[in-house]
Amino acid sequence: MEILIKPWKEAKTSAFLVRHEVFIQEQGVPAELELDEYDSVAAHALAYFDERCIGTGRLVDLDRGEVQIGRMAVLAPFRNQGVGKLILESLICLAKSQGTESIVLHSQVEAIPFYEKSGFTAQGPTYKEAGIPHRNMILILPK
Ligand SMILES: CC(C)(COP(=O)(O)OP(=O)(O)OC[C@H]1O[C@@H](n2cnc3c(N)ncnc32)[C@H](O)[C@@H]1OP(=O)(O)O)[C@@H](O)C(=O)NCCC(=O)NCCS
Repeated sequence: MEILIKPWKEAKTSAFLVRHEVFIQEQGVPAELELDEYDSVAAHALAYFDERCIGTGRLVDLDRGEVQIGRMAVLAPFRNQGVGKLILESLICLAKSQGTESIVLHSQVEAIPFYEKSGFTAQGPTYKEAGIPHRNMILILPK
């Protein structure tokens, strides 16, 4: 398995296949919410196994010393085998290399323990995004 970081132009076919299967088909997120204006400016992490993309996530620069991780998705048959963690760690590593102070994300409540394992802390109330309960999470990076 390898993780590659790509711009949207090179990532979109593979990333969208995974995101379509996970978010639109499995979780029922409306198709019009799945792609947004941040995709074209984000760095995308893609996990490949046997030349097939099985997982993805993205890093968006919020332009105030802060970045946001999002669209983390691993195809169901490949979950709980460390793929999501590798994608997340590669995005954290990229953020660190850019001198970022903190990483924020909107976590589905279900996924909070997954992000906690990589050091993120949940903060604030639960709210709904695309009809799914979420909480904000943050990781402060050492200077
Ligand atoms: C969330 C998601 C990306 C995690 O990917 P994954 O490949 O299954 O995660 P990993 O196998 O790398 O898990 C890393 C660690 O987090 C834990 N973990 C993963 N998902 C978890 C969950 N839902 N609840 C509790 N722990 C979880 C694993 O047990 C593992 O723990 P360990 O390091 O002690 O062994 C994946 O489950 C997924 O695509 N879910 C559907 C889409 C989604 O909800 N995305 C998140 C949007 S915020």
